[in-house]
Amino acid sequence: MAFLRNCWYVAAWCAEVVAERPFGRRILGVPMVFFRDSQGKPAALLDRCPHRLLPLSMGTVSGDRLACGYHGMEFDRSGRCVRVPGQERIPATARVAAFPVAEHLGMLWVWPGDPALADTAKLFDGLPQWALSQGPDPTWGLSCGPYTHVKCNYQLLTENLVDPAHVTYVHKSTLGTPAMADIPVETTQVGDTLLVTRWTLDSPAAPILQRFGKWPGNVDRWQYYWLYPPSIAVVDFGSHTPGMEHTDAARDAGVRIYSCHFLTPETEASTHYFWLQLRNFAQTDADVSRDITDQLIMAFSEDKAILEAIQQAEAEPHVAERVKLALDSGSVRLRRTVGRMIAEEEGGAAAATNH
Ligand code: FES
Ligand SMILES: [Fe+2]
Repeated sequence: MAFLRNCWYVAAWCAEVVAERPFGRRILGVPMVFFRDSQGKPAALLDRCPHRLLPLSMGTVSGDRLACGYHGMEFDRSGRCVRVPGQERIPATARVAAFPVAEHLGMLWVWPGDPALADTAKLFDGLPQWALSQGPDPTWGLSCGPYTHVKCNYQLLTENLVDPAHVTYVHKSTLGTPAMADIPVETTQVGDTLLVTRWTLDSPAAPILQRFGKWPGNVDRWQYYWLYPPSIAVVDFGSHTPGMEHTDAARDAGVRIYSCHFLTPETEASTHYFWLQLRNFAQTDADVSRDITDQLIMAFSEDKAILEAIQQAEAEPHVAERVKLALDSGSVRLRRTVGRMIAEEEGGAAAATNH
């Protein structure tokens, strides 16, 4: 399966890549090693020493250099070999590929495609509370989930994130309520970005929100699922007292969470999953942050169990033609959009080689 390569993907939480220690992680099938130079600036190289192919993540960092753990060849952040122990001459082929990196939203991003096309202005900028140019808005509370590894293709995860209909069945104890089950979803598309929405009116609040909203009776509940292809999802969800308007301002007056999901293919059959939540209540309360993260660890492990089972089932021979339902409109559009973006990228690359 092809991946879209010319875009930024989250490789790690910034805190995962610490000073003086290389950090290995496979991104889009490519083994990469991340490290910080003496100024703390991150770098990413192919995780292979050009001598005997030992992963450089098994080496050491000293100053601005990454040294191989086998015979000590040293590389700078551009991948150029700057020292070979025991000889003066550095062979011209002694270099490893380097990948552009950037830090944004507390995460380390990598550009696995053509380095000449990498541009930090193309980093994800879909969060009003954390604009690329301005950094985090302190009037929103932040909670970050732990790094999560899922043994399924990233598209099973992104499809799940344009599918509000599964919530009733998969997340009974946290996010789902029976009242939502029969309300159809609406799918729209703005450029390449998908939006799947649903309003569930005058019904009991979801368990996770009732803990914070403490409404005496029913609520109106919204779900706005934004999907930025290929693999970033922002779920704006929340509740307010019934009968209020459905505008952005009215939603701000309710209990509102932006649940942000960043999916990075590790291989065709496994995905790195990074997630965080921004909330408009109890912004500075660390207990609330922990509570939200704990609830969502539970909810996302429910998704993980379902999606890993589907990944396994897809690899087995008993697959019949799959039925399409109305609730699939988001995932159908998403597959089509990502497929077109990949075809365009590959078409562009083929055209460039033919010149
Ligand atoms: S394998 Fe890296 S220096 Fe020999
Ligand atoms: Fe889910």
